[in-house]
Amino acid sequence: MTASVDRAPVPRGSMTPVPHRVVDVVHETRETVTLTLEPVADAVPAPAPGQFTMLWAWGAGEVPISVSALEPDGRLVHTIRDVAGVTKTLCASKVGDVLGVRGPYGRGWDVDAARGHDLVVVAGGIGLAPLRPVVHAVLADRASFGRVALVVGARTEQELLFRGELDGWWHRREILVRTIVDRASAGWAGSVGVVTGELVDLDLDTERTRVMVCGPEVMMRVVAQHVTDRGVPSSQVEVSLERNMQCAVKTCGHCQVGPYFACTDGPVLTWDVVDALLTVREL
Ligand SMILES: Cc1cc2nc3c(=O)[nH]c(=O)nc-3n(C[C@H](O)[C@H](O)[C@H](O)COP(=O)(O)OP(=O)(O)OC[C@H]3O[C@@H](n4cnc5c(N)ncnc54)[C@H](O)[C@@H]3O)c2cc1C
Ligand code: FES
Repeated sequence: MTASVDRAPVPRGSMTPVPHRVVDVVHETRETVTLTLEPVADAVPAPAPGQFTMLWAWGAGEVPISVSALEPDGRLVHTIRDVAGVTKTLCASKVGDVLGVRGPYGRGWDVDAARGHDLVVVAGGIGLAPLRPVVHAVLADRASFGRVALVVGARTEQELLFRGELDGWWHRREILVRTIVDRASAGWAGSVGVVTGELVDLDLDTERTRVMVCGPEVMMRVVAQHVTDRGVPSSQVEVSLERNMQCAVKTCGHCQVGPYFACTDGPVLTWDVVDALLTVREL
């Protein structure tokens, strides 16, 4: 005879991944995939633009991934670049697979502060993923914003994310859309070079302009330097700080930069704060 064991329900704290099923998979580029997830039972709270979740693939591990669109009904949209370990497993997900989700976490883009202002959004590579919800928010409430420019850089044309959507935004002409690639491939008639090349002739009303930047750290530094040199206050320039994260709840210290924790104080911080932190060598 088998003894029956009373199974107490598993306590669910903020560190317990919540099962979500993959309901859609879109291959954006050779190495980037957008996954739409639906809660298997319980949903996590709705994220805000610039926030991230910890995505857990069973047997592989857990990594921070930003939300790349805001969806109703508890759905989550994440765009993931396969750089190796966990992201490789996540990018290989198929419809029906179940992943774990913790979050959403962090402080995102200050979209409300940008209302009534001009806005310049600058994205490099996968950096367009966390900024896409900002563009959606602008287009959903276009009259609340001043002039809006989106500058997107990628290594090659083939690596431009959300290509169809970019073309749609360009055709709608509600915002200025500029793209630039590091290396031109056959047939590319657009700009070639670094993203700042697309900023130099941008007319900036510096006092009323807010800037949001996401991409490789060196690119964010160059862009922030460019716009602040032209007179945009560094407190009006937001960047998303990418740091190694483990807990995402200010416990492990992995993401600490000086007195700041990228997981809770960020990942989005203003350039006056980040510039001071990143110029201290030992940090
Ligand atoms: C707040 C936040 C939000 C993020 N949002 C996204 C997102 O929306 N989409 C997304 O694809 N990624 C995002 N990332 C980056 C993502 O978390 C990392 O790519 C991931 O943790 C790498 O883990 P891994 O196990 O796949 O690779 P690892 O095994 O940790 O690393 C494998 C190799 O890739 C290199 N590597 C690790 N990370 C990167 C990177 N970011 N770029 C280039 N090389 C890297 C490592 O140095 C190593 O050589 C975000 C990170 C943070 C902190
Ligand atoms: S990830 Fe652990 S403290 Fe930020």
